[in-house]
Amino acid sequence: MSTNFAIENFRKQFTILDKPLKNGRKLVFFDNLATTQKPQCVIDKIVDFYSNYNANVHRGLYEFSEKATAEYEQTRSKLAGYLGTGNAAEIVFVRGATEAINLVAHSYGKKFLKKGDEILIGAAEHHSNYLPWQALEQEIGVVRKIIPLDSNCDIDMRQYGSMFSRRTKFVAIQHISSVLGSVNDIKTLSKIAHEHGAKILIDGACSLALGKLNLKEVDCDFFACSGHKCFGPTGSGFLFGKYHLLEEMSPYNTGGNAVNSVQFGETEFKLPPDKFEAGTPDIAAVIGFGAAIDFLETIDWKVAGAHLFDLTQRLDAKLKEISGIKIYGNPRRREGIFSFNLNGIHCHDVAAYLGSKGIAVRAGTHCVQPLMQFLGIPGTVRISMAIYSTPEEIDMAAGTMAECQTIFR
Ligand code: ALA
Repeated sequence: MSTNFAIENFRKQFTILDKPLKNGRKLVFFDNLATTQKPQCVIDKIVDFYSNYNANVHRGLYEFSEKATAEYEQTRSKLAGYLGTGNAAEIVFVRGATEAINLVAHSYGKKFLKKGDEILIGAAEHHSNYLPWQALEQEIGVVRKIIPLDSNCDIDMRQYGSMFSRRTKFVAIQHISSVLGSVNDIKTLSKIAHEHGAKILIDGACSLALGKLNLKEVDCDFFACSGHKCFGPTGSGFLFGKYHLLEEMSPYNTGGNAVNSVQFGETEFKLPPDKFEAGTPDIAAVIGFGAAIDFLETIDWKVAGAHLFDLTQRLDAKLKEISGIKIYGNPRRREGIFSFNLNGIHCHDVAAYLGSKGIAVRAGTHCVQPLMQFLGIPGTVRISMAIYSTPEEIDMAAGTMAECQTIFR
């Protein structure tokens, strides 16, 4: 190992990784794309909220409500600081990346896009960054165009650049493929979109768990993220949007908290981000997400990134030693995620066998059916690592897969 990541100490923050399973083994958790484990500080923060100052936010003129509101709003400021964007009003809390993308399709798309406008969408997008645009096509007649992949399953950048026309108004693309682990060059994708006068949304559902991002440098118009995929609680997530765009967009859900005044005749909505946060939010999740951001701030990403790089290289080499394996994609840059099949064995059988040995992976289409269609397969086994993964876990998974080959052959 070329890194000096203090993995054993780091893992102590995730006590769940030490819990014995029914078979006495410890969990090897390789399903981090579905959701990451939560560090103790996140769990403690949620318990603290419910135990010591549970109250609704933005409404109460008493101590607990003021404390809950301050903590809730601090998560927003922490995120704006962590992402390098500075302006907390550009962070809208949502339940996750899916809701963030639906919000943009609804509140930006329906207001600013019209029949015949073209939207460029990646060929490996998760359904959450596919279906909202498909719905917009059905509702208002925008035209979706799919950005092709090259033979390595990377975005074909040359083709991407040549797909723009006067009608291209929007690009929706992921940062990291949830199936292939390929990392898109989102800075260049944004630059090219802007050169053609188009807006760009980046689906960064899992990005923050795999590295540090400066959104000011990326210069995207929108960025969608799921907190639960980045060490935060389920129910947490955010949409980053450039302020002037959020200001012009229509509300998504309507209701309490989002308005300045409501008359029988008309309503005046608040400014962003409140305009988009109608109703009681998932307060505990947002406050817990704040602890996850504090946790991310403690990580030296140079060291953690090198650890993840080593793990990725190791798994790549180990998988290639298994006879009859087909690994999908050979991207320029891969971040901790692999999809593959073992010759002649159904992906669910492989996942179930690994599961019986305490190794958690995901199998199936991973909510990315268009990509499966492109690859011409019904599904894959997916290993998704996190920075608490270890070389020993990789070796164990690879060994168990080789065993699986023998048993099912
Ligand atoms: N979107 C999550 C995954 O890819 C659930 O597993």
